[in-house]
Amino acid sequence: MGVHEEKQLAVEAAGVLVQNGMRVGLGTGTTVGLLLEVLARRRPNAVFVASSPRTEVAARALGLDVQPFGCFDRLDLAIDGADQIAPDGWLIKGGGGAHTREKIVAVAAERFVVVADATKRVATLHAPVPLELSRFGLAATLRELESCEVRDAPSSPDGGVIADYHGTVADPRELARWLSAIPGVVAHGLFAPELVSELFVGVGAAVHHTSRGGTQ
Ligand code: 5RP
Repeated sequence: MGVHEEKQLAVEAAGVLVQNGMRVGLGTGTTVGLLLEVLARRRPNAVFVASSPRTEVAARALGLDVQPFGCFDRLDLAIDGADQIAPDGWLIKGGGGAHTREKIVAVAAERFVVVADATKRVATLHAPVPLELSRFGLAATLRELESCEVRDAPSSPDGGVIADYHGTVADPRELARWLSAIPGVVAHGLFAPELVSELFVGVGAAVHHTSRGGTQ
């Protein structure tokens, strides 16, 4: 079993959570791309919001009903990928530079579900931590951050500069607190365990399902 198959197994398992009548947030990335295909096959009578233009275009092309995220104050479910998953449930996201909108979607969801292949499991989180920075005062923010590099990537859909923090991630909660306190940091890619309801990780031919209450 390769990475692709592990992703496929994870999204097949998570895709059944999408039921008729739900409002569902969609993340960004290759794993979410596979999820969109599962949803297009199952065709639940649900409405979707997308965390990136890339996901929005792909979901619409597959016939999913994508609505702007401005009219719903709550989502029933959101499903997204991750770059790193630590044993204590901390995540790093934003490899695709979509972490600001992904976090807005995750926080709005009653149930935030992460889908991944086994390569995303790490013993401890490590750099880079994706950031979105305000263009205003960018040089001053970069000075404050010290170990940070602007990514050679397009701006976010909200005009933010995508960058990567390369300092130590020994204490993710403390790092998240410090990054959030810097005004020029629009959002960072650290996702706290309390945000994550469930994880579906493809491991070989199996799917490891973990919920906030413990492994199932
Ligand atoms: C995008 C993300 C993605 O969820 C993360 O990078 C995982 O991507 P993939 O499913 O392609 O491995 O956070 O900003």
